[in-house]
Amino acid sequence: TATPLNFDPGARRDRFPTPIGVRHPTPFSSSYRRSVKILYLNGPNLNLLGTRQPEIYGRTTLADIEAHLTEVAKQHGATIKLRQSNHEGDLVSWIQEAGLAGEPIVLNAGAYTHTSIAIHDALRAAERPVVEVHLSNVFARESFRHHSYVSPAAAGVICGFGANSYALALEAICDLVGSRG
Ligand code: DQA
Repeated sequence: TATPLNFDPGARRDRFPTPIGVRHPTPFSSSYRRSVKILYLNGPNLNLLGTRQPEIYGRTTLADIEAHLTEVAKQHGATIKLRQSNHEGDLVSWIQEAGLAGEPIVLNAGAYTHTSIAIHDALRAAERPVVEVHLSNVFARESFRHHSYVSPAAAGVICGFGANSYALALEAICDLVGSRG
């Protein structure tokens, strides 16, 4: 059957009803019951958000982001757990834990995005839904930021919207998990 023109798997159900015959429960739909726990993992130097190069990363701290996400997640019937480490191995271990716990992951791997095969491998092994986020638009910056080891293991990438990238990722991951649930 042909896909209706207005079918958008990422769209809110209350704005775009799911076409008949397409099973697409989302966090916004009455058929969505499972409470999802979303793991927000943050890599090196993201503990400095708020003071680190504010012209690039803004003045919002990671604690501000966490508080905001916690509130927004409630409206999605979800909870979040936010972690940050400057150490690659911590991120690898947390991704492995998410794999075992069955938790979806929102990942800002910071500079490890551009270097870490270990994080790439951990994401592949975890087999969890992953949304890659960046505050800055990495593609409008230095060329060494244009390559990501995370992207091939992610469902999608959100970058360039400052702290709001994290909230947009919440929307994306809830929809992703809902549509798979
Ligand atoms: C970043 C972009 C990376 O290139 C950089 O190394 C970071 C932050 C971002 O959120 O824009 O640490 O991931």
